[in-house]
Amino acid sequence: MTTLSNDPVSALAHTNIALIKYWGKKDERLIIPYTSSLSLTLDQFYTETSVRFDQSLSADKVEIDGAAVSGKSWQRVHDFLTVVRQLAGINAAAEVISLNHVPIAAGLASSASAFAALAAAASKAAGLQLTSTDLSRLARRGSGSACRSIFGGFVEWQRGHDDTDSYAFPLQQTGLKDISVIALTVESKPKSISSREGMNRSVTTSPYYPTWVNVAQNDLVDIKLAIVTNDFTKFGTISELNAMRMHALTLSAAPDFMYFNSETLTAMNLVKRLRHQGIECYYTIDAGPNVKVICQQANKPQIVGAFTKLLGPKRVTTLQAGPGVQYL
Ligand code: DP6
Repeated sequence: MTTLSNDPVSALAHTNIALIKYWGKKDERLIIPYTSSLSLTLDQFYTETSVRFDQSLSADKVEIDGAAVSGKSWQRVHDFLTVVRQLAGINAAAEVISLNHVPIAAGLASSASAFAALAAAASKAAGLQLTSTDLSRLARRGSGSACRSIFGGFVEWQRGHDDTDSYAFPLQQTGLKDISVIALTVESKPKSISSREGMNRSVTTSPYYPTWVNVAQNDLVDIKLAIVTNDFTKFGTISELNAMRMHALTLSAAPDFMYFNSETLTAMNLVKRLRHQGIECYYTIDAGPNVKVICQQANKPQIVGAFTKLLGPKRVTTLQAGPGVQYL
């Protein structure tokens, strides 16, 4: 059995935005996806987590953003810590303290940064010394998208077949460097259908799901080419299309559901209008109503200006590519 130090280990991880979406699990327990995905790690929204294993604790203690956590959220962290304990061959309970750094009212806290930071802090606190690939595999067990937040910049998650080969890695060839992401806060209420439930319903009931598996694979090949050849137009076009193809799975599920609200549609239309005026930008949307606008530096002031006019300055945040997980 590993000898545990009682000192807490702290790690910090940023969230990421998927440009080729992960939407559907082949194995729900191990979180093995049907398709590979690709994301950009962002530089501003991050989670800082410290973990300490302690033989004298009777149960795992979890605090998020200053409040003790119970119920489903506690269970999810506890289950993840159990995976870490099994890997390390220990049985001590842990104290987890986590802080999300998200601009006020951005409503963009994410399980990606949370489980990436938790994987890094908990594995080290448990005495494990993991390679970044193994850390990515571990983070995946907490939340699929978290496996990509282990790395900075453009990151691909290869779907793999099982726990051993489903992990993320950073893209080596990235000709495309000038990318900005403008995060629009459309609404900060919790989402009605979690991504976990939404993707399960899409896989099991959308007649288009098998087509998605093929199309997403082609989108991934095409976007990687656009990144290597520094083709921003192709990059943005594929990102926007892929997001809409994912959302088509929600609209075609039974019962159907939708993550957009009326403000989402207004923002999407404004992106299209700006593009029509020669101000190049594209949108992508995850499992919620918030919109992220992808653009290049030269057009950023005009796009930020247009959305600030629409939503007010507090709901418009500009982001760049960010780094991978770090120990503090
Ligand atoms: C729409 O990673 O949150 O953001 O694996 O069930 O925890 P679980 O899901 P999660 O889903 C992310 C879905 C998405 C697309 C993406 O990030 O690729």
